[in-house]
Amino acid sequence: MSEVIAVDGVSKRFKIHHERHNSLKERILHPGAGSTELFEALRDVSFSVGEGETVGILGHNGSGKSTLLKCVCGVLQPSAGQIRLRGSLAALLELGAGFQHELSGRDNVYLYGSMLGFSRKRVDQIFDDIVDFSELAHFIDTPVKFYSSGMYVRLAFAVAVNVDPDILVVDEVLAVGDERFQAKCIDRIRTFQREGRTILLVTHQADTVKAICDRAIVLDHGLKVADGEVGEGLRIFREHLLGGAAPGSTPSAPAVRIEAVSAPSGSFEVRHGGQLDLEVDLVSDQAVSGNLVIEVYTRSGLLVSRNDAQAAPVDLAPGATRVTVGLSDVPLLDGVYDVNVGVVDPQGGTVLGWREKAAAIQVIYDGRAGGVVALDAAVTQW
Ligand SMILES: Nc1ncnc2c1ncn2[C@@H]1O[C@H](COP(=O)(O)OP(=O)(O)OP(=O)(O)O)[C@@H](O)[C@H]1O
Ligand SMILES: [Mg+2]
Repeated sequence: MSEVIAVDGVSKRFKIHHERHNSLKERILHPGAGSTELFEALRDVSFSVGEGETVGILGHNGSGKSTLLKCVCGVLQPSAGQIRLRGSLAALLELGAGFQHELSGRDNVYLYGSMLGFSRKRVDQIFDDIVDFSELAHFIDTPVKFYSSGMYVRLAFAVAVNVDPDILVVDEVLAVGDERFQAKCIDRIRTFQREGRTILLVTHQADTVKAICDRAIVLDHGLKVADGEVGEGLRIFREHLLGGAAPGSTPSAPAVRIEAVSAPSGSFEVRHGGQLDLEVDLVSDQAVSGNLVIEVYTRSGLLVSRNDAQAAPVDLAPGATRVTVGLSDVPLLDGVYDVNVGVVDPQGGTVLGWREKAAAIQVIYDGRAGGVVALDAAVTQW
């Protein structure tokens, strides 16, 4: 597999200015007062991506994902290290990056094309495909500053996938579109994969990473802490996310196995507002005190809820332990939800055991509200 992206010892430092004087008068009297600190958003990050690979980048907020993608795209210059690319690149960066807000959708498409070295004639040829994909024909002559974030992403994604790039870089944004458009984007990404293009993708949606990535890289405070198989990457990501573990630390804690999750009632069905009890069977080879984590996801991979694990202590004796988790006043609307179950160390938050999709619960709701949860909208007219 030939190398398409080579990131070699890349660091990125930002200057952060701390104002010492807050009032306008003080700032006028003492201009420039305050201190400047160098903040290292990326620390000596190296990896390479082969042709046709799809690599997911995971990491907590502020871990450096967007900074890394911006360096790869050349929007930012690394403070140290080098990045080499082979082939053309199209990028879908964070919201707000890329388009000229005063210009219409149409003008932005031409502007982006010219930045990629496309002639006007060449953009003419792909223009209809872009508008078709974005489903924004009606708004294409509206300045993009009036677009909703979803519309903005539609156009940006449509442009990125129609300019025939060898490398596609996507930051987060997929989550902004509605579910149908997200599915359409994922479909197009799969086509890209079949065509052997290389993809670098930042997302917080574990399901998306699992569904489309060949490999996962995990960042923590600007350091690369994992690079490899997706399942392992997700596990390490969770560990760092839940525990705030020091970068580079490796867990040496005892392991707990989540053996099974069952419903004492015999059914994982629950009515909206009702109660569902779950039995969790845990197995440990030694005595362990931990906290139980229960995550509920929609089928599209949106995290609906993670419990406060600090309030859910479990004491495991060596061998098997069964605990019951009562989910009361279930606020969810109708649909099927996946439940992840884990046990974390109460001190460091290290994951001692984890089971993805340990159960699927079916919520039944007869009302008219839509979405994932029912929001009580009490209308008063004066
Ligand atoms: N232009 C900048 N000047 C100063 N600090 C910056 C700048 N851009 C990013 N940072 C800082 O660098 C760190 C990494 O930011 P980055 O946007 O790369 O995080 P991220 O992993 O994309 O986070 P998120 O999940 O929230 O999108 C953050 O602490 C951020 O505040
Ligand atoms: Mg980001």
